[in-house]
Amino acid sequence: MIASATTVYVPRDSSAVSLGASAVAEAIAMEATRRKAGINLIRNGSRGLYWLEPMVEVATPRGRIAYGPVSLADVSTLFDAGFLGGGEHPLSLGLTDDIAYLERQSRVTFARVGVTDPVSLDDYVAHGGYRGLTRALALSGAEIVQEVTASNLRGRGGAAFPAGIKWKTTLDQSAKQKYVVCNADEGDSGTFSDRMIMEGDPFVLIEGMTIAAVAVGASAGYIYLRSEYPDALRTLTAAIDAASRAGYLGADIRGSGKPFRLEIRVGAGAYICGEETAMLESLEGKRGVIRFKPPLPAIAGLFGQPTVVNNVITLASIPAILERGGKAYNQYGVGRSRGTITLQLAGNGTRAGGFELPFGLTLRDLIDDFGGGTASGRPLRAVQVGGPLGAYFPNSMLDLAIDYEAIAGAGGLLGHGGVVAFDDTADLAQMARYAMEFCALESCGKCTPCRIGSTRGVEVIDRIIANRDRSDNVELLRDLCDTMTAGSLCALGGLTPLPVLSALKHFPEDFGLPSANEARIGVE
Ligand SMILES: Cc1cc2nc3c(=O)[nH]c(=O)nc-3n(C[C@H](O)[C@H](O)[C@H](O)COP(=O)(O)O)c2cc1C
Ligand code: SF4
Repeated sequence: MIASATTVYVPRDSSAVSLGASAVAEAIAMEATRRKAGINLIRNGSRGLYWLEPMVEVATPRGRIAYGPVSLADVSTLFDAGFLGGGEHPLSLGLTDDIAYLERQSRVTFARVGVTDPVSLDDYVAHGGYRGLTRALALSGAEIVQEVTASNLRGRGGAAFPAGIKWKTTLDQSAKQKYVVCNADEGDSGTFSDRMIMEGDPFVLIEGMTIAAVAVGASAGYIYLRSEYPDALRTLTAAIDAASRAGYLGADIRGSGKPFRLEIRVGAGAYICGEETAMLESLEGKRGVIRFKPPLPAIAGLFGQPTVVNNVITLASIPAILERGGKAYNQYGVGRSRGTITLQLAGNGTRAGGFELPFGLTLRDLIDDFGGGTASGRPLRAVQVGGPLGAYFPNSMLDLAIDYEAIAGAGGLLGHGGVVAFDDTADLAQMARYAMEFCALESCGKCTPCRIGSTRGVEVIDRIIANRDRSDNVELLRDLCDTMTAGSLCALGGLTPLPVLSALKHFPEDFGLPSANEARIGVE
């Protein structure tokens, strides 16, 4: 590093890279050399404001100044404008902290994402990293679990199960070997928050897993990472190496006498391997097929041993909970949905991105205030909330609060916090058909309602669309959905009816049926 060098940040996040961030970083480095300007170039994580990527930041005495979206053609004009000193430029976004879409967030889990150098342990520690583990090492396992219970943190992977209860179950088992497994399979459509953490602040996940291990008495852990995330694999590998070298991982965590060894396993690309028991099968080197429950993984999980399985965001939320206390985390949110959730807005939105917010805002707040309407400029028609197994909601339901119970009460699920927007060109009958097709493609095949039902579901929807015995086939589709809901062994088959039936309910005209309005008039 040059003594008087200006620090310039260009994200290494793969979405930013897909928009040209690496080429921009290279061009900035070359231009700085050409102009003999000393810079210290850091490849940070993304702030999640993807419509502004590549977003370049410069450290100035006033704070960090942001510019974006920066293209290769802008680089020399940025230098001309004196951006290294925070100079004015048409792409200037002002102080990063004052950007409205960041200012309005409550970044607890994502506090360091975009701020630090993701692979620098020193930077992590300088920004408050490892304070949670330091406190945890001074507590008993039961006291750590109590803190997590007090936070009311629920699993962010989809099922929203209380993390404290899960951890207590594993803590209460007596076994020589226990495991902590991080579910980083992130297969839901329109979701990317796990990736943002792993690429932007991998140490927070490592610290969260280490705290989990200390709490329940586990000495080994695995991160089950989807193969589609090669950049996350690189950052995580570098971070695990750095943490191991500094004694935050290994045989004796920071002189505590407690061991925790952490390794990454890369999946082979199956949606079902995100389901925790299929993931454990896959981790054991077998085909990803669902296991019967009970026994719960917390009692008999990986290699038959007690195993905590948690999502990336669940685990990455733990360091802040231990550092500030469970009660502080619990102050965010509404009802039984406590803390913050990272909502990921994708699809047809002007401002697609990831936003960490307390539970309780409405879908409309998210779509209008953050998303800024559709990218196509056409009217918004539907949003799918919660990934491929989530319901489609029409425009008229956007005042729904984003909390687990409210969304479930409206016939949907919040899942991993993905929200995909569709404009009025979307054909919801085709989307319902796709839900069945997706289930057929991704089914593990263990139970009949899902394995056979999903294929029959595609055929029945095709007959409805083609107007062959339409009303009989609609009835048949409802029966089939009942069977899948009640008879499937896991949520893939059990929840596929949600997108199908919500499309049928809210958008009947796409299936050739009277619209919801026409049906009401007919009744009157
Ligand atoms: C078909 C299917 C796919 C799933 N995919 C994921 C996934 O990609 N990531 C994840 O964390 N959880 C996924 N889950 C949920 C997991 O089974 C499990 O509930 C979760 O990993 C537990 O962690 P949490 O309590 O922290 O959410 C999936 C569930 C099902 C039924
Ligand atoms: S519902 Fe589908 S994915 Fe789940 S166990 Fe049955 S066949 Fe396998």
